[in-house]
Amino acid sequence: MHELSDDRLAAAGVRLWLVHDSNKPRKLKYNLIAAREQGHHTLLTFGGAYSNHLRAVADAGREHGFQTIGIVRGEQTLPLNESLAHCVAQGMRLSYLDRSSYRRWRLHIGDLRRRFGEFFLIPEGGSNALAALGCSEIASGIDARYDLICCPVGTGGTLAGLAAGLPSGTAALGFSVLKGGDFLAEEVAQLQREAFGRVSPNWQIELGFHCGGYARRNAELDDFLADFHARHGIELDWVYVGKMMLGIFALAARGRLPSRVVALITT
Ligand SMILES: Cc1ncc(COP(=O)(O)O)c(C=O)c1O
Repeated sequence: MHELSDDRLAAAGVRLWLVHDSNKPRKLKYNLIAAREQGHHTLLTFGGAYSNHLRAVADAGREHGFQTIGIVRGEQTLPLNESLAHCVAQGMRLSYLDRSSYRRWRLHIGDLRRRFGEFFLIPEGGSNALAALGCSEIASGIDARYDLICCPVGTGGTLAGLAAGLPSGTAALGFSVLKGGDFLAEEVAQLQREAFGRVSPNWQIELGFHCGGYARRNAELDDFLADFHARHGIELDWVYVGKMMLGIFALAARGRLPSRVVALITT
């Protein structure tokens, strides 16, 4: 955890601490325990061709002794990109679903079971109630006092858990990396209901910093990240963390942030 020294934040009266946290092992922790308890030997999950989540499941399978199956959105292209090649090297079996079938993957679960046998299903992005439970442990690892903690939002599991585990008087702010992310608030609420039996009132999602949409970037983001790197020597991941950081600085300049803020640097 380290405090970022930046005159723009100082001018806005905001202190910002960066906290590194890998949300993927947290999202998988209780899923792996449940899979093991239910006697499963195989994990099956979904993702795009560059999905960090597929990689994380492949790594976890290798480490914890599960076979893994990754259902990839779209057509197979050879040679495999570095991300999918990594999954295969970890022992993951890949299968491809065209985009429209992929969108309706729930309809294909029966087909997948006929094809692959029994498996423990982990949804795309890894966000389910057990993932939220794992992410509710993030806050207990942060030994500082703050008013607001920020994280990027893709599928919502990280924010759902993070917010649920916060000390009282502290709020969470998620930054959607998706265009048209209005549906995310209901996703987060639903995950909290399933995981904790209630929706906590201490979180919100900012929708205005997607910079063109998922895995897209624009000049504003590129300029911000280049400048951030020049000032702080820190290269931020542009798909998730960069968009959150752009949002944090924009909201600070608008006077919309409290005085003690934590930014979760997810990997
Ligand atoms: C680096 C990084 N940060 C944040 C997120 C967003 O997490 P979530 O999908 O739980 O909203 C992801 C997606 O898993 C990610 O890969």
